[in-house]
Amino acid sequence: MSTEYLLAIESTCDETAAALIDSHGSVLAECVATQEFLHEKFSGVVPEIAARAHLERILPVLDTALKESGIHPDALNAIAVATFPGLPGSLIVGLSAAKALALAWNKPIVGINHIQAHIYACGLGLTESIYPCVGFIVSGGHTSLYRCQEPLGWDYLGGTIDDAAGEAFDKVAVMLGLPFPGGPALSKLAAKGDRQAIRFPRPLLEDKERLDFSFSGLKTAVRYRIAGPSDPSQGAASLDEQERANIAAGFEQAVIDCLIAKAMAAVKKTRAKRLCVGGGVAANTSFREQLTLVCQARNVELVIAKPQWCTDNAAMGALAWEKIRRGQFDPLDLDVQPGLVRPKR
Ligand code: KG4
Ligand code: ZN
Repeated sequence: MSTEYLLAIESTCDETAAALIDSHGSVLAECVATQEFLHEKFSGVVPEIAARAHLERILPVLDTALKESGIHPDALNAIAVATFPGLPGSLIVGLSAAKALALAWNKPIVGINHIQAHIYACGLGLTESIYPCVGFIVSGGHTSLYRCQEPLGWDYLGGTIDDAAGEAFDKVAVMLGLPFPGGPALSKLAAKGDRQAIRFPRPLLEDKERLDFSFSGLKTAVRYRIAGPSDPSQGAASLDEQERANIAAGFEQAVIDCLIAKAMAAVKKTRAKRLCVGGGVAANTSFREQLTLVCQARNVELVIAKPQWCTDNAAMGALAWEKIRRGQFDPLDLDVQPGLVRPKR
């Protein structure tokens, strides 16, 4: 089988990324430009700032990935771009770049679903297919479980009814005076704490039939633990270092317990043999370790995306090969579908 080439673009939130992927699924080159320092003082992603930053980064990122791959644009089969879900301004930058290149180079365009791509990322670099599986996305915008029959065929099983897990990490990190994005910093602080010292609530955990998550109450419990009714940023300053670490550890453990319990419930309900986990929070070391142990004990095959492919990247745009093989190309008037759409059950 001759080798074919794909250029993939990702700009759904605050990472601008491009990757060259061949038809065997090998990632030949990839480039990811972050913009965290621009959002840090706001303790969260500001959509307008993100869109402008994408605009500045998209061409250098594309150029770097193409040069590094050594692939000439003439050799490309298609250009893939994530069009859903995401921030409107951010999505538009990636899609506009994809359209411009498609026109200039006379290549077809393929729009992909960012969440399906996060699940597909679990299989990057593996020789065996990860499907069928339970796909679990735990990121800053999503905490969702799917029954995945194949890369493009899935059913929604459940997800968060309020905050996403990563969002809760980020907000609790702010309360503890940690830098943005909070997940990695909070996890580092938690490693110095006692996971059993403070038991925070585990929302919806007792409702075993329900494959949903809720993290906003947990977040509020942390807030009151830090500062009572006063400003939590003041409260965090008055805590000693061990108490801060214990709060971080107690919070992280509560989130991990909810994530693992519902993932295992989804596996049981669907009788799946394999669980595939992606998204930024899947980079969390304690979560990876604890989930690995639980899956071993229950004889469930676990595939967690490699850490560099947990957070947003363009390599996961390899999903587009599945559409290309089915002849599913998109017209040049393809549009973005923004929003954190919660799929229907
Ligand atoms: O998948 P991602 O890059 O972007 C979205 O699509 O949301 O995920 C970003 C989220 C942020 O909330 C970040 O704090 C969280 O993933 N995150 C982590 C870790 N690394 C990133 N959360 C917990 N522990 C980590 N090590
Ligand atoms: Zn993502």
